Amino acid sequence: TTPLRLGIAGLGTVGTGVVRIVRQKAETLAARAGRPITITAVSARTRDKDRGVNLGDYAWEDDPVALAKRDDVDVFVELMGGSDGPAKAATEAAIAAGKDVVTANKAMLAHHGHALALAAEEAGRVIRFEAAVAGGIPVIKALTEGLAGNDITRVMGVMNGTCNYILTRMQATGQGYNALFEEADKLGYLEADPNLDVGGIDAGHKLALLSSIAFGCQVDFDGVALEGIQDITLDDIRHAADMGYRIKLLGVAQMTGRGLEQRMSPCLVPAKSPIGQLEGGTNMVVLEGDQVEQIVLRGPGAGMGPTASAVMGDVMDIARGFRISTFGQPAAMLKPCAQASSATP
Ligand code: NDP
Ligand code: HSE
Repeated sequence: TTPLRLGIAGLGTVGTGVVRIVRQKAETLAARAGRPITITAVSARTRDKDRGVNLGDYAWEDDPVALAKRDDVDVFVELMGGSDGPAKAATEAAIAAGKDVVTANKAMLAHHGHALALAAEEAGRVIRFEAAVAGGIPVIKALTEGLAGNDITRVMGVMNGTCNYILTRMQATGQGYNALFEEADKLGYLEADPNLDVGGIDAGHKLALLSSIAFGCQVDFDGVALEGIQDITLDDIRHAADMGYRIKLLGVAQMTGRGLEQRMSPCLVPAKSPIGQLEGGTNMVVLEGDQVEQIVLRGPGAGMGPTASAVMGDVMDIARGFRISTFGQPAAMLKPCAQASSATP
């Protein structure tokens, strides 16, 4: 049988996690997909770095664009990050060269997702991005597949592991931001620019992606009313706890009579509620639809294993021949979403 050949650009937290799974679970993956999953080539900034995984038999490319175009690559796996620059250039090159794409890059898709999805469709390719939203939680699959018979009425939740980790650890330990940044970094949670995390921007990217699928409109990150957690102090957290509340970075997207409302901001939630009890890097996404009423998905929102798990779910779909449109319906049919004018935090 014909193997599915991956080219992986980015060998950091997520990329090395994917390499580990492909190497360690080769037989299981082949049995489940009905064909072997192999890695033919990889790319990162620094070639001579011990990454704790064996890369010996893979071809090396310094340039991710060259990797994306290789004849021996079927699926370009983009795990570098960054909304523009090499990630976008290599993704565009991969599509132009007739490759499918799997990415964890919410920043790139929040800014360029619609254009990339259109390009992929025109080329007859697919872009999959389960890992970009809520780490190990298969929320994209839930929305695009399991809930495809619903009109989605609301999407909400906690979608940034770093912020949830910092807020819960501030409460538990009384430590400030700097020490907790270090802990979150060791766990592999942080974006390359952690301002994206604590500024609510990363979670806003994720909410905009979910909105596009849920409400059938073009991704509109600029329409997300954003407020981060940078100004939350230990005193704020203590006072909230005294009153029986927790502070969470909570996102809500819903279609109102005035248009799409998207908000990502710190909110007080009852300490004993399911969201109030989320600890560490855990995420929770609540999906509401006209048929199912409410679905709650909870799980690890960041880190090596959970994120690589989501990447591999997409790779397996492609290996099995499952080719769904990027945002759940053809990009050419997605309309710009009218924004609710009062969408302020
Ligand atoms: P890391 O910073 O750990 O790894 C990034 C990798 O990309 C590194 O191997 C780096 O090379 C490589 N890289 C960066 N720039 C270039 C370039 N110009 N050319 C070639 N290679 C480059 O990031 P993560 O693994 O944490 O994140 C990767 C992606 O996954 C991001 O889009 C992130 O938002 C997303 N993501 C991350 C999650 C997480 O929990 N960490 C969860 C969900 C999504 P080198 O190692 O040589 O420096
Ligand atoms: N930095 C992100 C987070 C990684 O902390 O949630 C997962 O998307």
